[in-house]
Amino acid sequence: MRKKMVAGNWKMNMTPSQAVKLAKELKPKVDTNEVDVVFCVPAIDIVPVVNELKDSGIKVGAENMFYEEKGAYTGELSPEMLIDAGVTYVIIGHSERRQYFHETDEVINKKMRKAIEHKLLPILCCGESLEQREKGVTIEFIKKQIASAFKYIPPENVINCVIAYEPIWAIGTGRVATAEQAQEVCEAIRGSIRDIYGAVVAERIRILYGGSVNAANASQIFSMPDIDGGLVGGASLKPEFADIVNYNKK
Ligand code: 13P
Repeated sequence: MRKKMVAGNWKMNMTPSQAVKLAKELKPKVDTNEVDVVFCVPAIDIVPVVNELKDSGIKVGAENMFYEEKGAYTGELSPEMLIDAGVTYVIIGHSERRQYFHETDEVINKKMRKAIEHKLLPILCCGESLEQREKGVTIEFIKKQIASAFKYIPPENVINCVIAYEPIWAIGTGRVATAEQAQEVCEAIRGSIRDIYGAVVAERIRILYGGSVNAANASQIFSMPDIDGGLVGGASLKPEFADIVNYNKK
């Protein structure tokens, strides 16, 4: 059985003082053994949020990192910096980074490899555009994204990776994929992992759904057989996040 995971992606929200306040408010409501809970926060919030959550089971994630060790890369963060600051997970290849910061599949693969080399656990994002869905090329496109992201990565390092399926048309739009639509793609993603790495790895890796997840739709989506939880944007900044984490306690 795969343990469910609910990760918040705070995106470019929350100053350090706001971040500490939010973490403090959410902490008692989301600190549970039943679900792995992760707060993926802006880089400047990592240190204070790690400090705020240190006596809890909640893990902290970064929203991005660079694929070089160190050096003249103004503005970037290295995996070593993240690890030293207390980060466990790192989001890689979010569609906003692909779209606004022109991250290519090749760059994303380099980040995956570097994160894994440092034992940071990647939350790899994939997802199709509305145009691709309407053209009927969703599954084919996602399989390509997965194959490219995991290139050169050996199976023993894949088991602890997390994949987030986030259809671009569902992000921040309130237009959530149906549980069946999400399941269909998550099942195909697990199939891709099975094709590349075999059944054992495919059964162990966690696949999340992201895109307009909220307290009202979480339990239905998370009950699908290939969906192991959610990557939550907007609702992760609100008290509602606690209801998503506790989706099975109603
Ligand atoms: P929303 O939950 O705001 O749609 O964002 C999803 C997302 O992009 C999480 O990474």
